[in-house]
Amino acid sequence: MRRVRIALLGCGTVGGGFVRLLSRERDRLRERYGVDAEISQILVRNLSKERPGVPRELLTDSPLKALDGDCDVVVEVIGGTHSAGAYIRRALLSGRDVVTANKAHLAERGRELFDAAAERGLFIGFEASVCGAVPIIRMLQHALAGDSVESLIGIVNGTCNFILTRMEEGMEFDQALRSAQQCGLAEADPTLDIDGIDAEQKLRILAELAFAAPVRRVTTRGIRHVVLKRGSVLRLVAEAYRVPGGVELRVEPRELPPDHPLAAVRDEENAVIIRGRAMGEVMIRGKGAGSLPTASAVLSDVVEIARLRPPLGHAKAAADAAALLK
Ligand SMILES: NC(=O)c1ccc[n+]([C@@H]2O[C@H](COP(=O)([O-])OP(=O)(O)OC[C@H]3O[C@@H](n4cnc5c(N)ncnc54)[C@H](OP(=O)(O)O)[C@@H]3O)[C@@H](O)[C@H]2O)c1
Repeated sequence: MRRVRIALLGCGTVGGGFVRLLSRERDRLRERYGVDAEISQILVRNLSKERPGVPRELLTDSPLKALDGDCDVVVEVIGGTHSAGAYIRRALLSGRDVVTANKAHLAERGRELFDAAAERGLFIGFEASVCGAVPIIRMLQHALAGDSVESLIGIVNGTCNFILTRMEEGMEFDQALRSAQQCGLAEADPTLDIDGIDAEQKLRILAELAFAAPVRRVTTRGIRHVVLKRGSVLRLVAEAYRVPGGVELRVEPRELPPDHPLAAVRDEENAVIIRGRAMGEVMIRGKGAGSLPTASAVLSDVVEIARLRPPLGHAKAAADAAALLK
């Protein structure tokens, strides 16, 4: 049995889902994978907030207590780039593997973090950072290793897709945005989603995995000013393809023929179609966000890391790194 102690940073939509999911799945993980995953600390900002189902004794508002305590894996589901970035770096420096759902930070500093992890023989799991529950990262990293990807195209922002689906049913943009906010799918400040920035960040991560080539050109247009013709299907499409010397990335609203596979992707769903030189097209589709779906991708990463580590490997790596920090 491999025991994994987890420092959970953040207990909001994804973190709260992770606590519930782990308590539901813990016995199955022990039996099926021989992994005994246990949360040792939970970092939050506000200790007095009501958090049904979350053991109070695990909560702390001290980043040092959470990060430097007894843990093997640090799960970062705080979001943003400033504190989250500092905590991920500290976790790596002290010899802990990291799992994160933070596409914003990975899009900005991913390469640096992966280099830091590789130097120390540590893992960074980031399946939840793109397309929530849809295992697109693992697919690009492992399942498609035998082929050269020529292009990928998809719907990677569930909020915009929800808004565009509502508009297709007759709502105006503002009304559809309010509806997304009421369902908890859009932030009070929806800029990152509706201006295409979130989709661009995700596309950068996917393109790095698919092509490992320099990005030559990026075009990003959101859905803030779209006008929908009656009966047409509009989607915020993210596309990456090879160009001489690298790859080109495009995020833009596109009208799709009704029989296009992405036209059938509705509400907050995500989907990606990958074209490989040998395999032709493969499509993957599912829930791109939400508490339990996203938490399931986070937990899969934790299990994967535990299975990759030899027993006691964590403890030894952490002890070696801690000795170096002293
Ligand atoms: N929501 C989704 O469906 C989804 C899907 C895919 C990826 N993600 C990614 O997952 C991450 C988390 O998203 P979320 O929706 O779960 O966010 P959220 O609901 O806003 O939760 C954030 C949590 O982090 C805590 N926190 C924030 N700043 C902190 C700080 N400086 N120090 C300590 N704790 C801090 C908050 O504490 P308090 O509770 O005390 O305020 C809260 O528990 C983001 O990177 C997001 O992009 C989310």
